[in-house]
Amino acid sequence: MPADTKIPDPFKDIDQILVTEDQIKHRLVELGAEISEAYAGKEVAVIAIINGAIIFVADLIRQINTPLQLDCVRVSSYRDETNPVQEPEIIDRIRLNLKGLNVLLIDDILDTGTTLAHITKVIQSMQPATIKTCVLLDKKTNRSVDFEADFVGFNIPDEFVVGYGLDFAERYRQLSCIGTLKPELQNPPQWG
Ligand code: IMP
Ligand code: MG
Repeated sequence: MPADTKIPDPFKDIDQILVTEDQIKHRLVELGAEISEAYAGKEVAVIAIINGAIIFVADLIRQINTPLQLDCVRVSSYRDETNPVQEPEIIDRIRLNLKGLNVLLIDDILDTGTTLAHITKVIQSMQPATIKTCVLLDKKTNRSVDFEADFVGFNIPDEFVVGYGLDFAERYRQLSCIGTLKPELQNPPQWG
């Protein structure tokens, strides 16, 4: 088969696995219990920041035993590269009326903090009763704004990661673990 028609294996582009599938599964159960306890006796309005949080939210809400409503907000913080754009852009807004609700905003990763800080402000303007945030991954050392999440899956070093919902140019989201992408693949000219 000619090289350019060969279907690529997404796993072979991974340099190093930082969080295994088993670690994710185990942590999901713990996080689900923490969140269920925090909202015991209340209904929670989960807002997923997509596309990145799709897989995490799908698995996490099945570990939450309080009643919940689900909506999504589509945000673009990265174009097709590993460098963030300045201001996160809301491409598709929240439809649920959040007034008086207990909102849990969920993203895949907390990096500079710009995305969660911005979306939190947008949600605050909708007058929810409470707002908390949850992220699967936290790159603590890379903040440009002062922001901490209430629920964190794993702290990771400041490296570009893919898998379990996290992408590079919309690829690698289907990987069941989280790993760093080989450096030479992070800005190939055909994806620029
Ligand atoms: P922040 O606004 O810098 O905190 O970045 C948050 C957003 O950037 C997330 O919603 C992710 O979509 C994206 N992001 C940050 N770091 C990574 C990474 O290592 N891999 C993939 N996406 C990332
Ligand atoms: Mg992303």
